[in-house]
Amino acid sequence: MIKVRNLKKEFIQGQERTEVLKNVDLNVEEGEFVAIMGPSGSGKSTLLQLLGGLDIPTEGDILINQNHLSNMTEKERTIFRRKYIGFIFQNYQLLPTLNVKENIAFPLHADGSLTKEKNQMILELLDAVGLKGLGRKHVNLLSGGQQQRVAIARALVNNPSVLLADEPTGNLDRNKAEEILGLISRFNRESNQTVIMVTHDIFAAGFADRIILFKDGVIDQVISRKEDDYAKYVANFMA
Ligand SMILES: Nc1ncnc2c1ncn2[C@@H]1O[C@H](COP(=O)(O)OP(=O)(O)O)[C@@H](O)[C@H]1O
Ligand SMILES: [Mg+2]
Repeated sequence: MIKVRNLKKEFIQGQERTEVLKNVDLNVEEGEFVAIMGPSGSGKSTLLQLLGGLDIPTEGDILINQNHLSNMTEKERTIFRRKYIGFIFQNYQLLPTLNVKENIAFPLHADGSLTKEKNQMILELLDAVGLKGLGRKHVNLLSGGQQQRVAIARALVNNPSVLLADEPTGNLDRNKAEEILGLISRFNRESNQTVIMVTHDIFAAGFADRIILFKDGVIDQVISRKEDDYAKYVANFMA
């Protein structure tokens, strides 16, 4: 369902050219949960941005649900993103002046007048992420873990087929991280959502089916969580 071919991305600042992604080839199956790990600055966030159509590659192509991202105009990419992609970030990226429900409704372009159906869906999502009854609360009054739950509900409100998460538990302690990862893997299993998650944490990566080890803009190794010793292996790689 996701095919990445010969992907390259370089940034040019003044005279300097940085090749951030060098030659990335990757296939992800529908419903698969993939973790991407690698040192800081190796290009993980850049890859996620390209996968979500937030930025365009220098070369190469990304195919998602039969859509070639490279052929799209910016406007088409925006529409594509709304239809197929949910994003979750390390720092939640909620709108601080809005309440929980308004934040979740935001991708629906709701101007306050939600249809009955959409309203019902938001209530169900609130329940699913463990925030029942908190819809009218301002998001800046919530704990980090609660804010990330709001962000997950917001990412899911369009029922995207692909969930992209960039270090979603990076700001949370172990217990809160486990709850958030439990939620993400539950949606992955129950809604067959494809999940691509960047993480520094081997514990978080253990929720994925496959772990992609990224280094200097290329995929260095791909390992299965089911392999014995995967944790030791990854720890050595990251060290
Ligand atoms: N918009 C940008 N302009 C210039 N350089 C960038 C930009 N975004 C990322 N980079 C550079 O690309 C490299 C990889 O960044 P990033 O993808 O954020 O890495 P990671 O998420 O693996 O830590 C870094 O050297 C970073 O400085
Ligand atoms: Mg990053």
